[in-house]
Amino acid sequence: MRLIGNKTRLLAEIEGFLRDRGVRGGTFIDIFSGTASVARHFKRLGFRVIANDHMAACHAQAVAALEVNAYPPFEAVREKHRRTLRSAEFRRGFAVQPVLTALGAPASDPVPLAEVIHLVGRQLPPREGLIFRSFCPGGGKGRMYFRDEIGRRIDAVLGFLRENHEEGLLSRGELHLVLAALLDAADRVANISGTYGAYLKTWQRSALAPIRLEVPEVIESPLEHEAFRRDSNELVRELRGDVLYIDPPYNKRQYGANYHILEIIAEHHEVEDLEAYEAALYGKTGLKPYDGLKSAYCVPPCAARRGENVLSAMTDLILSARADHVLVSYNEEGLLTREELGAILSRFAGTRSFAFDRDMRTVLHKRFCSDSDRSAGGAKGKRRYRVLDGKGRGEISEWLLLGSRERRPRRARRNAEATQATRATQAAP
Ligand SMILES: C[S@@+](CC[C@H](N)C(=O)[O-])C[C@H]1O[C@@H](n2cnc3c(N)ncnc32)[C@H](O)[C@@H]1O
Repeated sequence: MRLIGNKTRLLAEIEGFLRDRGVRGGTFIDIFSGTASVARHFKRLGFRVIANDHMAACHAQAVAALEVNAYPPFEAVREKHRRTLRSAEFRRGFAVQPVLTALGAPASDPVPLAEVIHLVGRQLPPREGLIFRSFCPGGGKGRMYFRDEIGRRIDAVLGFLRENHEEGLLSRGELHLVLAALLDAADRVANISGTYGAYLKTWQRSALAPIRLEVPEVIESPLEHEAFRRDSNELVRELRGDVLYIDPPYNKRQYGANYHILEIIAEHHEVEDLEAYEAALYGKTGLKPYDGLKSAYCVPPCAARRGENVLSAMTDLILSARADHVLVSYNEEGLLTREELGAILSRFAGTRSFAFDRDMRTVLHKRFCSDSDRSAGGAKGKRRYRVLDGKGRGEISEWLLLGSRERRPRRARRNAEATQATRATQAAP
């Protein structure tokens, strides 16, 4: 899934920064998990991982990547579709060997998942549902997010998931594995450039390709990992870990407004009244009301404005963290300055100031550029970005800032706890 701020290219830096501080295991909390790229990486490294994101599409990716520790059997669904799975037509199109080669040699059996992905991706009869009606030209709303044929295929998979979910035939892991595969496949053929904030007026080459669901890789693990779909600042108070990784939105662009179609795909199976849900889609892009997804991290700090903003939200998040290390990823063009971030992290660590030379790394990478950025620049058709000192056009830096709390020796901690308990007993009436 394409997402603004995806950290796939920064994984080695994030890992290296923590390793240099002696962090090689424990519980890693990814509180804004997005595509789950970072969460997935740390699961692979052997950490216990907790991920969270308030978007349904991101949550689906995190459940599939983290909570599933072995290829699931899909017993109930395969039983229901037994005749199709045994049919000559199915067997002709389905080859096990390429799947096994692509997935390495897992300890659990990936064939049931591969069969189900083949079934939903290639064998279901097309349908004209919400995606066709709202986001394809044939649907009559004039939107060009997917070709008609692709819309019908997405609707077929959504119908399959909804029905089997209603009948209780899919476990949480099974449902989210298929959903994650569908989200990735739909995103690859969406007629957009970057975000769903706009569709292109002519079909780009990737949108002309057929939709292909790929078998997602399951990361096998003996540990229990968890994925939440909550507000970061509420959830942080309930978690404890070794590392809290913070990668929030960094500008005013709300994710809810830019990824609405992925959200619709991800939550379709759990919507109670689909008719009312579809009727509520509005505007040029078929936006879904997204009040519940408005993030304080996209609101600039402004003395004149009341209410939550990125500075108050970030301060609250970091100071509420119950972790030994807090690692923040932030874009140099973001709403917060590095001095503001450093000041909060030094409060977290209990130090007088933030040691930028030791506790901050700067990673140069390519700027994310969406279609709306390209069209925002007026006559020239390009938003003009400031070229920052010492960088080429299109290059941008990501800051990694680390705050660490001294771990008190166990005996000192026990003594402090005992003192607190004694005080509490003495204070009791
Ligand atoms: C920069 S992206 C994270 C990218 C991620 N690290 C990756 O590699 O894909 C920020 C994410 O924060 C989520 N988000 C924004 N505000 C949130 C909040 N208050 N609570 C939970 N998630 C939030 C957005 O949905 C988005 O997926």
